[in-house]
Amino acid sequence: MKKSIWLSILIGILLLISIAMIGLWLINRGMTPNEHRNMDMGTQDEVLVLKEDKGEKLKPLELPKILAPSSKENNTTIYDIEAKSGEALIKSGEKTRTLGYNGNYLGPVIRLQKGEEVTFRTKNSLDEETSFHWHGLVVPDNVDGGPNQIVQANSEKSVNFQVSQDAATLWFHPHPEGKTAKQVYEGLAGLIYIEDNNEKSKDLPSDYGKNDFPVVIQDRNFTADNQFDYETDQNSDGTQGENLVINGTIRPYIEVKYDKIRLRLLNGSNAREYKLKMSNDTSFTQIATDGGFLEKPATLKSIRLAPGERSEIILDVAKEKGETLELKDGNTNVLTFKVADSLLLGPPIPEELESPEVTKEIATDKVEKIELSGMGTMVRIDGKKFDKNRIDKVAKQGEERIFEITNQDDMMGGMNHPFHIHGTQFQIVSRNGKEVTENERGLKDTVLVAPNEKVQVKIRFTQKGLFVYHCHNLEHEENGMMGQINVI
Ligand code: C2O
Ligand code: CU
Repeated sequence: MKKSIWLSILIGILLLISIAMIGLWLINRGMTPNEHRNMDMGTQDEVLVLKEDKGEKLKPLELPKILAPSSKENNTTIYDIEAKSGEALIKSGEKTRTLGYNGNYLGPVIRLQKGEEVTFRTKNSLDEETSFHWHGLVVPDNVDGGPNQIVQANSEKSVNFQVSQDAATLWFHPHPEGKTAKQVYEGLAGLIYIEDNNEKSKDLPSDYGKNDFPVVIQDRNFTADNQFDYETDQNSDGTQGENLVINGTIRPYIEVKYDKIRLRLLNGSNAREYKLKMSNDTSFTQIATDGGFLEKPATLKSIRLAPGERSEIILDVAKEKGETLELKDGNTNVLTFKVADSLLLGPPIPEELESPEVTKEIATDKVEKIELSGMGTMVRIDGKKFDKNRIDKVAKQGEERIFEITNQDDMMGGMNHPFHIHGTQFQIVSRNGKEVTENERGLKDTVLVAPNEKVQVKIRFTQKGLFVYHCHNLEHEENGMMGQINVI
C-alpha cells in the first residue's frame, strides 16, 4: 500500500481516539461524584440513596451519657474511656453487633473546662488495635491519638494534657491505619464539649437534653439479620449507607419544650455529605463551627456538613407551637421535632459570640500548596500516598502559615475531599480567591474542598510534634490520602 494511505488511516484513528476522549471528558464534567461512583461500581446506585425506614416507628432520640470523672488527683481530673464491643437494638428485631466507648454504641459526651488539666485513662478491650484520637483538640502529638499512638488489644494508655482552647464541640474516634473506617462504622465515636467563661456569659441554651442536644449523624447499611453491612457496602470512594442513624437512633424525634434549642451537629459518617434544612424552610442560626463560636451568629436556611465537620445551630420554634417539624437532608428526615403547645422562653441569641482571643489578621503572604487528587484507590496528597516513615512538611511552633489546598480535577471529574489536620484549628481565608460566607469564618479543623476549588487557610500550630493531615472521607484516608507535618 501507498505511504499516503497508511498516513490517512493513522490520522483517522488518532482523530477517533481524541473525539472519544473529549466526549468522555465532557460527560464526566457534568456528573456528580455519586454518579461517578456509580459508573465505577456498576450497579451501586440504590445503595447511595438515603431511605427513610418507614418500617421503624418514630423513637425518642438517644442521648449519650455525660461522662462523669472517675476521680480527681492533684489538680488533674481523671476520666476512664474504654473501647469495647457490644450489641445494641438499632433496628427493630435482632440486635446489631456494635462497638462503643464505655457502652454498646458510640460514646459518652466528655465535658471539659478550658484551663483544666485532665488525664484520660484509655483502655482497649477490643480484640484488635485501636487508638483514641481527640478530633479538634489542640494538644501535643503524643496525646493526640493519631495513627502513631496505637493502643494494642487488651492494653491501656494514659494521656495527660491541659485544655487550652475556647468553648467548642469536638469529637473523638479511633485512628489505627487500615482499621479506622471500619471501627468508626461499627460505633466508635463520641463527642467532646469544651466549655469556657465566654460561653457561660452568653446565656446560650445549655441544658443538656432539654434545650441543648447532641446530634451525631451517621449513615449505615444493615444485613437482613440487622448487622452492620460494612463489607459489602465498603467501596473505595467511601462507605455510604441507606439508613440514617442519629445518636444510634433510626427515625428519632425530640419533644421541644423551649422556644430555642441548640443542636450540636456532627457529621460522623464515613463518607456521606449532608445538606440540612428545615421542613418548613424556616431559617436557623448558626453559632459555632468546628473549633468554636462564630464572631457573630449567622442566619441560614441550609447548612452543608462534610464528614468530620461540626456545626452548632439554634432553632427558634416560638412560631411553631403544637406543630411537628423536621430537620431534613434532601427528602429524608434526619430529626423530628414535636413542639409543645406552650414553650419556656429563653433569652435572645446574643449578637456577639466569639471570645476576643481569635485574631483575624493574616501575617504572611507565603502560600504553601497542598494538592489533593484522585478518586477511589488513586487518591493522593501532593502526589503521594501515606507513609508513616516519611515527614511531608515541617512547621515551626507558633509560626503562622497559609496553606492553599487544591483539589485536582481529573479525567473522571474528581470528588469532594474534606481536608482535616490534627493538633490545631485554622481559619479559612478564601475559597477560589473569594471571601468565605459568614458561617465558615469561625475556627475549623476540617474543610470541604470540591474539585477545582482552591481553599486558603491560615494555620498556626501552638503544639509540637508529628501530626497527620488527611481526607476525612475515611475510606480515602485508608487508601493513603494522608500526610504528616512535623512541628518543631
Ligand atoms: Cu477525625 Cu485524623 O481525624
Ligand atoms: Cu477524599
